[in-house]
Amino acid sequence: MSPRIGSADDARAVAEAARILRDGGIVAFPTETVYGLGANALSPEAVARIFEVKRRPSFDPLIVHVADVAAARRAVRSTDSRFDRLARAFWPGPLTLVLERHPDIPDLVTSGLSTVGVRVPAHPAALRLLSEAGVPVAAPSANPFGYVSPTTAAHVVDSLGDGVDFVLDGGPCQVGVESTIVSLETEPPTLLRPGGTPREAIEATLGGGLAERTPRGGSANAPDSPGQLESHYAPRTPLTLLPLGIAASVSSTNERVGALVFREAPVGPFCVVECLAPDGRDTTAAARLFAALRRLDAAGLDHIVAESCPETGLGRAIMDRLRRAATSGARG
Ligand code: TXA
Ligand code: MG
Repeated sequence: MSPRIGSADDARAVAEAARILRDGGIVAFPTETVYGLGANALSPEAVARIFEVKRRPSFDPLIVHVADVAAARRAVRSTDSRFDRLARAFWPGPLTLVLERHPDIPDLVTSGLSTVGVRVPAHPAALRLLSEAGVPVAAPSANPFGYVSPTTAAHVVDSLGDGVDFVLDGGPCQVGVESTIVSLETEPPTLLRPGGTPREAIEATLGGGLAERTPRGGSANAPDSPGQLESHYAPRTPLTLLPLGIAASVSSTNERVGALVFREAPVGPFCVVECLAPDGRDTTAAARLFAALRRLDAAGLDHIVAESCPETGLGRAIMDRLRRAATSGARG
C-alpha cells in the first residue's frame, strides 16, 4: 500500500502534515538536502517509530530540525559566538551544529549523548511545516538504514511505503547530499560529516580551520562518534571506486558493469553510464548523485564502477558518500 501523499505547494497538505506531526505521527518531507522522515522530537513514542520504520539502530542519533535560530537555541543548553556566526552565515541551509542538548530533548533523539545536532533547513515547505507544527522535528534521511538517501518523494515511497503516515512531495532536492555536521563541543570546532555546506566556507566564516574527526576506538557497529558507520549510502549492487579517468582501469568481462562518472562519458565495456555533471560543477554532481546511484542499482548490473572527483567544495561530501557506498560488509 502507498502512504498518503500531498503536494508541498498545497497549504492544506502542509497543514495536514503539521497536524500529523503534532499528533505523534511520522511525516516524510522535503529539505534542500534530502527528504527527511520527521517526528515530534519532544515525543519519545513518536521518535521510536522512526527507528522502527527505518530499521535504524538506536545508537545512531537524529538531527533536530527547527524553523529558526530562536527555536534552535531552545533545543540546546547554551550557545556562543561561534554558534551565532555560523547560524547567521548558513541558516537556513545545509549545516547541522552539534552542541550540548537542552534537558527537554529526549534520550532517544540523541542516543543518550549529552549533545544534540540542530539545523534550520532551507526549503520553503520544510520551514512552513516546522513553523506550523510548532514543535522541534527529529528527522533522519527518509531511507531504510544504510541505503542510498532519497532526493525525491518517489524514492521515499519506493523504499518506505506505508510505514510513513504522510509524504509531502516538494519535487527533487536542490542540494542532493546531506548537511555538513560541525561539533561546537571542541575548539576549534570539529567537522563530523562533510556535506552540503563546503568546509572552505565554514572555515572562512570562523576565520580558522576545522578539526578533523578522530576515531576514538568505537567498534564498527557502535562507533563512539556516531553516524560514521562505514557501510552507508550503499546500493545493493557492489560498487568499486576508481581514480579519475575511469576507462583505463576497466577491462572487458562477461559481467554487466555500469559506470558513474563526473564529466565525460567513458569509453569502456559499460552497459549503463550515469554522467553526474556535464557542466563540470560540483553542485550539479551532488544534486544528481543519489538518484543516479538508485538508477544504477535498479539496472540489473553485476557491478558498478564510480569515478573519483577532486575533494574540494561539495566534492568532499560526494567522495565521502562514494567511499561509504563502496565499503562492502553488513548493511543495516
Ligand atoms: O541533511 C541532513 O542532515 C538530512 C536532512 C533530512 O536534514 N538528515 C540526515 O540525517 O542526514 P541522518 O540521520 O541520516 O544523519 C544524521 C547524522 C547521523 O550520522 C548521526 O549520527 C549524526 O547526524 N548526529 C546526530 N546527532 C549527533 C550528535 N549529537 N553528535 C554527533 N553526531 C550526530
Ligand atoms: Mg541518513
